[in-house]
Amino acid sequence: MINLVRRLLKTSQKKPEKLIDEKEIRYDGRKLNEMRPVKIEVGILGNADGSAYIEQGKNRILAAVYGPREIHPKHQALPDRAALRCRYHMAPFSVQERKSPAPSRREVEISKVMREALEPSVFTEYYPRTAIDLFVEVLQADGGTRCAGITVASLALADAGIPMRDLVSACAAGKVEGRVVLDLSDVEDKSSDGADMPVAYMSSLNAVTLLQMDGMLTPDEFEQTLNMAVEGCKQISQLQKEALKAKYATAKEAVAEKEEEAEEEAKE
Ligand code: CDP
Repeated sequence: MINLVRRLLKTSQKKPEKLIDEKEIRYDGRKLNEMRPVKIEVGILGNADGSAYIEQGKNRILAAVYGPREIHPKHQALPDRAALRCRYHMAPFSVQERKSPAPSRREVEISKVMREALEPSVFTEYYPRTAIDLFVEVLQADGGTRCAGITVASLALADAGIPMRDLVSACAAGKVEGRVVLDLSDVEDKSSDGADMPVAYMSSLNAVTLLQMDGMLTPDEFEQTLNMAVEGCKQISQLQKEALKAKYATAKEAVAEKEEEAEEEAKE
């Protein structure tokens, strides 16, 4: 019985024959320049200094920030700024084939590019000789996790109250079956002769902090893909701001309620 369920699940997850139909609609119903549905929540972990959670399509990712705090081991201390240390990690249950919990080469690489994408946004020079530790945990992966990871990590940094020049928003664009598309899912990313370009961007500063590319694009396609990814980042930036505002509206309400309670107690 369990085997039958597994087999049925595998068939339902099979790659569709065509990823884009003749009406330019993608296999999951999206238009070429349409992002997967995004849901963001800020400040969801009680024990971290800052935290955030994102759902982008089937991706489910948590980010937690600690610091600025004393750095250990001490030799990692930087005399002129805080050391931003990032760990991108995929849970063993986040993908179809169980992933070893030990860090893979891919995770080490993503941790590095993530740090490089976020560092330009943080005033690390305000906190010399300290550490800002950032943990990104992928609970469920479906393509584009490095981008969603950067988006959610930037919010966790903001939630920790770390001074920042801007939020970093990330989104990929790429080529699927000869067409330039926004925010590739896992099957689209793995389609043959495709291309994938993850981009991280600071909207207010109009600055790109990450640009990677897999596959082949003509110069024209490259420009089109980059423009589409930047447009995606701008949409993400709006959603990030809304999520931050929602967090602070709730916090404000909680403070007002406490103040009211205190006033009433004082009256009694
Ligand atoms: O996630 P992202 O697109 O940023 O990175 P990638 O290296 O291009 O990986 C694409 C996708 O492959 C991931 O999002 C996962 O869905 C999948 N993957 C997997 O199934 N098993 C792994 N061990 C690693 C990645």
